[in-house]
This record gives sequence, C-alpha cells and structure tokens, in this order.
Amino acid sequence: MMQSFAKISDLRKVLKNERMNGKSISLVPTMGFLHEGHMSLIKEARKKNDIVVVSIFVNPTQFGPNEDLETYPRDLEKDSILCEKEGVDYIFNPTVNEMYLDDYATFVDTTSNITNRLCGASRDGHFRGVMSVVTKLFNIVNPDRAYFGRKDYQQVAVIKKMVNDLSFNVEIVDCEIVREEDGLALSSRNTYLTKEQRIDALVLSRSLKEAKEEILKGERNKEKIVNGILDKISKVTYSIVDYVEVLDAKTLEDIEEINRDVVIALAVNIGKPRLIDNIIVEV
Ligand code: PAF
Repeated sequence: MMQSFAKISDLRKVLKNERMNGKSISLVPTMGFLHEGHMSLIKEARKKNDIVVVSIFVNPTQFGPNEDLETYPRDLEKDSILCEKEGVDYIFNPTVNEMYLDDYATFVDTTSNITNRLCGASRDGHFRGVMSVVTKLFNIVNPDRAYFGRKDYQQVAVIKKMVNDLSFNVEIVDCEIVREEDGLALSSRNTYLTKEQRIDALVLSRSLKEAKEEILKGERNKEKIVNGILDKISKVTYSIVDYVEVLDAKTLEDIEEINRDVVIALAVNIGKPRLIDNIIVEV
C-alpha cells in the first residue's frame, strides 16, 4: 500500500526502516502533473530497486521572477492514482515551507561552463535552484539510484557533474525521451498549448529528426544544420526561438564542425509555453 508524506521526518523514519531491512531505495524527483515520461522513469526505477520514492514538489527556487511558478499545472490526486498503479512505495510531497524554512539561505552552485549556455543562459539561477533542491532531496531520501529524463538533457549533465564533484553516493540513471505518437516530447507544459499550437509544436521534433538524418547522410556544417532548423521553426506562427544549438554530446561544449557525437538542443516558445527538446546524433 503506497503512503504519502509531506514531512521530511516522517519520510526519513520509514526509509530508515527499509534501509535497515536491506532494501535498495530509488528516487524519481518530479514537479508533479505526471505524464508517460515520468511513468517511464518510475517503471525503470521499479525494475531495479526494492523501494521507489517519487517526490512531487514544484520547486520555487528554480523558477525566474517572470516564469510560470504560480500557474505550473498541479494535480496531486491524479498523480497519486498514477503512482499507486505503477507500484510506487512512497510519495514525498512537501510544502514550500517544509523545504525552505523562512530563514533558508543555502544554495548549491557550479562554476562549470555547463550552466552558462542553453537553458542556463536564458533562465538565470535556474540550475542553482535545481541543484539545491536535488541536493536536499538526495539528503532526505538518501537513494541508491535517482532517475531523470533526457528531455532535460542539460539538467542531467548538471546533476551528473554535481554528483561527481560533491561525491554524492547515488547512481544517476538517465532515461529516453518519451514522445507522443506524432513526435511531440511529453512535458507537463504541453497542457498550455492550444489545439492549433499543439500542431505547430510538432515542428520541433520534426526538425530535430530531419537534422539528424542530414548529419547521418554526411552533413558536417554546424551552421547549416542550425539554420535549417531555424528556418523550419520560423514558418510556424506562434514560435519564438530561445536557442537552437549543436554541442558536444558529452561536455556540452561548443564545436567547430560536427566531427564527434553531438546533441542538437532547442528551446522555443510556441504561444505561452517554452518547450525544450533534443536529439543525440552519433557520428
Ligand atoms: O525535472 C524536474 O522536474 C525538476 O527540475 C526536478 C529535477 C524535479 C527538480 O525540481
């Protein structure tokens, strides 16, 4: 029977017991409004671990002042039903106050270039907020493994770097992007799309896929690839591009030409939501 806890101390108590009984513990950190992408992480966690903890917390410290913290979609009741169906053991859904006391003042940050580009360039302080909350969640749950989706490609890279640099005793497992049948990468923010924008948004996955095909056919010019994608996106009425970049898939560093494995990553507003997507190309 799944249990939900809002208090750190209550969750710690049950997990201490599980650990004493030799159980391996996994964590799937989420901000709720769960979709098949999250469920795929939960399924992976369920396969390998005795205990699956899902955290549901819309973390205010990773949202900028003009972002969608207030309107970020929430549905704890539905999330709980989905988690129970998937065999989750514990949900952790703390209040903002439980996570950040009034005098809260400690953050985790990095000087690595990894956060300067892509989403880090346009979302000031975003990764600082992510690193801080993930650190807290790791300290609360003390998981053997933690599961993250590759749609947030940069987030996975940042967390892996943090875990390595700070010697966290946790294995980071990154899982495939889950897409709708027509290619749209699943995201809680897709709910903001109107019917028309939902169709427009398909340009993102389609242009990434076509760019990958061009590289696999031999195209090595980075600018040509980026411009090809920008061109396709510009034909869509409600699109405003934040970035389209081709970077080294491992280091997320800039490249001159496509002569190694790359990730093509993009962030584009389609109407209200800012959507991100990416594709890896092994050359
Ligand atoms: O990917 C997310 O949903 C969030 O950034 C995370 C990892 C749960 C931290 O708040």
